[in-house]
Amino acid sequence: MQTNPLTNPLTKNIGPHNSATDIGHYRDNGGYRGWRKALDMAPKDIVKLVQDGGLRGRGGAGFNTGLKWSFVPSGEDSPAVKYLVCNADEMEPGTFKDRLLMERDPHLLLEGMAIAAYAIEARTAYIFIRGEYHLAAARLQQAIAEATEQGLLGSNIQGGDYSLEIHLHRSAGNYICGEETALLNALEGRRAVPRAKPPFPQVSGLWGKPTVVNNVETFCNIPHLIDMGAEWYRSLGRGEDAGSKLFGVSGKVKNPGTWELPMGTPVREIIEQHAGGMQDGLQLKGFLPGGGSTDFLGPEHLDVPMDYDAIGKAGSRMGTGTIIVLDDHTCPVGLVLNLSQFFARESCGWCTPCRDGLPWVVKILQRIESGEGRLEDLELLREQAGRMGPGNTFCALAPGAAEPLQSALKLFEQDFVDHIEKGCCPFA
Ligand code: NAI
Repeated sequence: MQTNPLTNPLTKNIGPHNSATDIGHYRDNGGYRGWRKALDMAPKDIVKLVQDGGLRGRGGAGFNTGLKWSFVPSGEDSPAVKYLVCNADEMEPGTFKDRLLMERDPHLLLEGMAIAAYAIEARTAYIFIRGEYHLAAARLQQAIAEATEQGLLGSNIQGGDYSLEIHLHRSAGNYICGEETALLNALEGRRAVPRAKPPFPQVSGLWGKPTVVNNVETFCNIPHLIDMGAEWYRSLGRGEDAGSKLFGVSGKVKNPGTWELPMGTPVREIIEQHAGGMQDGLQLKGFLPGGGSTDFLGPEHLDVPMDYDAIGKAGSRMGTGTIIVLDDHTCPVGLVLNLSQFFARESCGWCTPCRDGLPWVVKILQRIESGEGRLEDLELLREQAGRMGPGNTFCALAPGAAEPLQSALKLFEQDFVDHIEKGCCPFA
């Protein structure tokens, strides 16, 4: 991993000697400088700076972070209690970027959260972390204690009026807990099902109070944005979008992993240079650009920059920016079946298209994969993907699950037909 602080602010502390277990190392490398600067600024100026920097949410949706913060009611008439929540429930298939940040540089997350909490005038913050992330949870807990001991968190921070408590909450499991309103229900001790939006959490969130929910990587961008300014931050991007990003590649490439690269880095560069290209004897057949709930793109899209709008125009979503590569020796029906099984198992059962639709999709795909499919099944799958689409469900789980399915039916239709006509999986 490169560690140039000017081009790799997210990962500059990740190396042989990292800040994970040493606040001294973090501070020696400029850590908590952004926090100290922020404490001398008016909260509204921080919100404006983040908005000017153009940072878009790194959890997958790409919503402008400063704009989200600006929706929180402020001023004397606003509710006295507000909350900040870090969504650390990283469970999107193929996505393993927040884990790296939390395990290897937990103070970066705490610093970003402290600045965000101050900006929205919240005095209580929660990190909702995936239950399986044991090491990250232990390191964060230790980092909270260290930062509190050094007067960077807790009561009367740096001798001033502002106080902030950050609590770590370990999830009991389930993909749906990463959906922000289901996450809030889970934090409140309720069943983790999504809430209707609007109202958005910024107005009515945790226990009905204004709440901002941001992803781990989003918070990790804040300290250097505040420290170095909006113009510098925007200049980190190579294309339309600002900043740098953790991109990842999984699948049959030579060197799967995660790297911090400029926003707008072309897909080809990520797969061929950083991930080392396809394993010998394999060709790239397609890829999911941003985790399991995005649409497949084909080799003709390799030169598209990894920007939210550019990937959108190509027909998919940048999502979490973690690419899943499909090669020409792997069965696309099997891949979509595997993803659909995951989504079906993780459905919270709150709405019908998801609760009943996903298991039905799994049954049909199993039938095709085992060579017992019928040509009519393809139309059935297309119809079902449409029923699970946006507008028909409370949250993005089923629409997300529909994306790899509907795009695989378009891009790899012949593979589906071959299974049916040959009566077996041609890749087995
Ligand atoms: P969304 O587009 O509904 O919302 C994104 C954020 O913007 C939310 O915080 C929401 O409150 C805010 N927002 C959106 N429209 C708003 C408006 N009109 N006014 C005020 N605030 C507004 O997307 P959602 O459902 O929160 O997230 C879906 C994404 O999550 C997908 O793109 C998927 O890639 C990603 N995802 C990531 C996972 C992970 O492990 N990192 C897991 C599952 C999904």
